[in-house]
Amino acid sequence: MGMRRVMATVSVCLVAVLAASPAQQRAAAVAPSLPNDPAATKFVDDLMKKMTMEERLGQMEQIAWSGRERQANEGHVRKGEVGSFLNITDAATIARLQHFAVDESRLHIPIIFGFDVIHGFRTIYPIPLAMASSWDPAMVTASQAMAAKEASSVGINWTFAPMADIARDPRWGRIMEGAGEDPFLGAAIAAAQVKGFQGDKIGEAGRILACAKHFAGYGAADGGRDYDSSNISDEQLWNVYLPPFHAAVQAGAGSVMSAYEDLNGVPATGNKWLLHDVLRSTWGFNGFVVSDWDAVKNLQTHGLAASPEDAAARAATAGVDMEMTSHTYRDTLAAGLKDGSITMAAIDTAVRDILMIKYRLGLFDHPYADPAHYTSEILTPEQHAAARLAANRSAILLRNEGGLLPLKKTIGSIALIGPMVDSASDIMGSWSLAGLPQDSVTVLQGLKNKLGPSVTINYTKGVTIDRKQPSIFDEQFPDQKMTLETKQVRDAEFTKAIDMVKRSDVAVLVLGEAHNMSGERASRETLNLPGEQEQLLEAAVATGKPVALVLLNGRPLDILWASQHVPAILEAWYPGSEGGNAVADLLFGDANPGGKLTVTWPRTVGQVPTYYAQNLTQIPDDMTGRYWDGLSSPLYVFGYGLSYSTFTVDDLKTDAASVKTTGTIQVSVDLHNTSGVTGDDVVQIYTHQQAGSASRPRRELKGFQRVHLNAGETRTVTIPLKVSDLGFWSPANHSWAVEPGTFDLWAGDSSAATLHAGFTVTR
Ligand code: BGC
Repeated sequence: MGMRRVMATVSVCLVAVLAASPAQQRAAAVAPSLPNDPAATKFVDDLMKKMTMEERLGQMEQIAWSGRERQANEGHVRKGEVGSFLNITDAATIARLQHFAVDESRLHIPIIFGFDVIHGFRTIYPIPLAMASSWDPAMVTASQAMAAKEASSVGINWTFAPMADIARDPRWGRIMEGAGEDPFLGAAIAAAQVKGFQGDKIGEAGRILACAKHFAGYGAADGGRDYDSSNISDEQLWNVYLPPFHAAVQAGAGSVMSAYEDLNGVPATGNKWLLHDVLRSTWGFNGFVVSDWDAVKNLQTHGLAASPEDAAARAATAGVDMEMTSHTYRDTLAAGLKDGSITMAAIDTAVRDILMIKYRLGLFDHPYADPAHYTSEILTPEQHAAARLAANRSAILLRNEGGLLPLKKTIGSIALIGPMVDSASDIMGSWSLAGLPQDSVTVLQGLKNKLGPSVTINYTKGVTIDRKQPSIFDEQFPDQKMTLETKQVRDAEFTKAIDMVKRSDVAVLVLGEAHNMSGERASRETLNLPGEQEQLLEAAVATGKPVALVLLNGRPLDILWASQHVPAILEAWYPGSEGGNAVADLLFGDANPGGKLTVTWPRTVGQVPTYYAQNLTQIPDDMTGRYWDGLSSPLYVFGYGLSYSTFTVDDLKTDAASVKTTGTIQVSVDLHNTSGVTGDDVVQIYTHQQAGSASRPRRELKGFQRVHLNAGETRTVTIPLKVSDLGFWSPANHSWAVEPGTFDLWAGDSSAATLHAGFTVTR
């Protein structure tokens, strides 16, 4: 056991005395998250005996590949002083560097190649927020397994995913990269992704190592501003922000990324409590931790570290094994060892963590991708089919007045309007780094593929959108005000679009955000449709023609007007390479929408942050009492989504009225497809603890199942409710427990479910 682990154990014992942490409530001795492997341990111990300090620090170093520094980087590799590269996607370069490491370096230690395979590699799957909206963990696992297959075929060993950050503020651009607002669903989706990337065990062929990021609390940035501090109470941290990470670790994630932000005043990357006490000692994590990009050096920016050397020592001591991109470990840790700011034991622990994962991955035996697979796994028909299925299952039908959708293939003409209708890069969304526009199907192309020449498609953009582009309605960027000439061109385009609507049978407006408007560094202070899209939508509706709105976006937007005036709204998110085909499937009923919101959709940005699992604090619980100038209810609740089928849920039953804290209750309902259309609904169960040591959310998701029902079919759906899932970290007791008492139970197909029952939990 390295010194760091010893210290961690000691510190956990102290925590136990001062405030019983989950370590103490859950288990006396925490099992390692990855199974012990004596052969690996012996191999790594033997190897480490031979390693110089430079080789040790090399393993702790991750370099962002840059062609410009090629020679210098190659030199480092040949000397065995690079543990990892990120951002190389080219099989030949990966193989060349790996050969230098394995053939030419003194100890032949292979490199681990990392890349952000977030929602696909070359074939782009729907963004993670979309995939979570499927409420279908099996599909999520299958999609990430397909992504792993492509990425591993070129030699990538490691993805920086899943993002397990809970996000309750749609201003934060990275909400698109996670599973939404809920810890229970977030945990299920994070675990599903880990399984998809890694398979059942690290080192399976055709898989890659997962990395749960950004540990932790990054999604709670003040004001939704990316990289800003997060101030999260202990109660929220334990009960809301940490569970998806814990689930990823329990699912066997081999790595974790430390986050950029200050968490309650201590930057996550220098936060020993997080990285030692919680991650390792409490959860038993025995993979390795990588910092986020430059996050070690940034400890100085945060005002935690006095110098790069201090930053390196603090991060390494806190538990960051590998430094991404800034080079403070390589440049200063040897000096730190001499002056006592870092111990040899801490360095050895980090190196051992990394080498153990390289061993588990099988890199020492199989360092290279098979050249026969370089291209044969890429963009295969199976990849396209899986991406299309994922996009179909991820879309959410938000509104469908008068059954406007699905459209009939026999219509004569469609006006297909919007700035992204034919944009191959926007349909992929952010974090599609290796995806190529030429491999994606736009909405225009998808509709052409579906309809052939028999339906006239009248297509134009209507408006253009760009990040920070000035709008004629927008006084925010006066220095960029458009010229009169530009305005005339834009007015003409707007008029052309509306004329097309007037002369078509139906209009489909494809609006939202360009791909770079959400994602990292893409926070927003409004949730408006950017540019003049709202005006375009209103003008289209004013023609009196039936209008369907398709949204391509990465966050809930302010669509209050649309929710009242546009008959049909389909949330397609950024659906990926097959997005255009999927949107066509959904619009024309070849796929039936079955996705549900995993984020509460606010009416206006002023309601943010808003989430369904709030505490009930005042009666009457009316939604008009909180803001005098608006409702406090959301536009669409968590768990909401329509279908071309109609469903009812009834006959809520439990198999016991009373259950022990260690037990499970079987909750069942009858789900009826009351329509003539086959489709999917998601049965959801929610609980509420009526009284206890602390107030608890008015509702919390505790089980769900996506169910496929034929037209007219009824099925009894049984969902196990594990009483251990009712446990929570009590801010009154500073401890984790299932508290005996009375619980409400609701079942239905959204968080507004009305079927109600109750049960008691006894010791
Ligand atoms: C992001 C990470 C990402 C890393 C490497 C950072 O800026 O925050 O999520 O994995 O870059 O690309």
